[in-house]
Amino acid sequence: MLLSIFARKPLSDIHIEAGEQEHGLSRSLTGLNVILLGVGGIIGAGIFSITGPAAAQYAGPAITLSFILSGLACVFAGLCYAELAAMIPISGSAYTYAYATLGQLVAWIIGWDLVLEYMFGASTVAVSWSGYVVSFLRDFGIQLPPALTSSPFTFSHDAGWKSSGAIINVPAMVIVALCSWLLYIGIRESAKFNNVIVALKLTVLSLFIVCGAMHVVPANWVPFIPPNTGHFGDYGWSGVLRGAGVIFFAYIGFDSVSALAQETKNPQRDMPMGIIGSLVVCTIFYILVATVLTGLVKYDQLNVPDSIAFAVNAAGESLAWLRPFLKGGAIAGLSSVVLLLLMAQPRIMLSMSRDGLLPPAAGKIHPKYRTPYVTTVLTGVLSALIAGLFPIGVLGELVSIGTLLAFVLVCVGVLLLRVYEPDAHRPFKAPCVRFVSIAGALSALGQMAALPRDTWIRLFVWLAIGMIVYFGYARRHARVQ
Ligand code: ALA
Repeated sequence: MLLSIFARKPLSDIHIEAGEQEHGLSRSLTGLNVILLGVGGIIGAGIFSITGPAAAQYAGPAITLSFILSGLACVFAGLCYAELAAMIPISGSAYTYAYATLGQLVAWIIGWDLVLEYMFGASTVAVSWSGYVVSFLRDFGIQLPPALTSSPFTFSHDAGWKSSGAIINVPAMVIVALCSWLLYIGIRESAKFNNVIVALKLTVLSLFIVCGAMHVVPANWVPFIPPNTGHFGDYGWSGVLRGAGVIFFAYIGFDSVSALAQETKNPQRDMPMGIIGSLVVCTIFYILVATVLTGLVKYDQLNVPDSIAFAVNAAGESLAWLRPFLKGGAIAGLSSVVLLLLMAQPRIMLSMSRDGLLPPAAGKIHPKYRTPYVTTVLTGVLSALIAGLFPIGVLGELVSIGTLLAFVLVCVGVLLLRVYEPDAHRPFKAPCVRFVSIAGALSALGQMAALPRDTWIRLFVWLAIGMIVYFGYARRHARVQ
């Protein structure tokens, strides 16, 4: 048994299986599609809802530095993902990479952990979407009943869980259901929908950057790094660091395109291009938006959920026309993030099923739409329930810790594979791999350490459930024994 849990899946087997599966999923995505899908999956709640409060509470105008720091940590992980995705172009993403490098048990742990990033991630962004829809409709005089637009629970680290008086978050469930339906009927349809949304999202943010820049008051950027108050994380350099940990959520999603490796025309080229390209585009947008945002309004006023719309308001009447566009752009933009995260999850499950770690039904491909429809429906139903029931804060932290754990394992994996399979064909090689992978793993571990104890406990509970399923089912049914 001990041997089988550490069994690695040889690269040669992975490549043979990828060839056999050629007639399953449809190879219809180009490199540009993948970059756009990446951008669609990255820019969302992080910039629309989290940046303002992070500037107000931790970093001040230096939130731009936080974006650079967090972006750099993601580039390290992104380079490792790109090397593995080009080398092992299978829809299982980090799960498959771990199977080839760290063995079956770690692969299972990472597959189970990715549920936190993708399925719970989609639910988190769906809750943010619901908030923007409620606020957008309210601006037009339409009031949705509060009991049906928020979680029935609240949670704070001091007071614990409390009933909120609400029943369920219906809009959050609706957006998950709509995206799941799109994903059910086809990857190409989903990519087309995504392209339109990405164009809209980037246009709205570009308008904010250009029009906002003309109204910036440079005095708002002074002091650029507000002095620390005496507590770690409250402004000063430690605030810049904590800000980086918080806005890490804004970058989540760049790795989700690696799950599309079997649906791209030329994964060896398209995967690195999609992962690094989308990360670079988003980092540039984030830095510009954060600079304009903190230039329009004094940072201490930005602790509001719709800070971008708020900043436009504060700039005076001349920018008021931009407000509905920003909210509309946010609603559209958040929906593509939900779409992308829901797209990645079923494909990981598909790979796990093909390896025998999940039941065969999870590996079924729709005969007409050529999508993994069983896992798409399963993910949609569970994600909708989570979105309907849980508050955004709890979900967001759980998503961050799960994603960071996956980054650590991928960064370690890339280095190990260089040792195990030094001569394997690597269409893309992460530069300075020792430095990049170690820096990537350490920065992800550092950000995990900054997360609260409750979140760590939830991560361990989730992984413990995963262990029960592994020893109860997966290990006994695994194809590699
Ligand atoms: N990066 C994604 C967002 O900010 C998850 O919504």
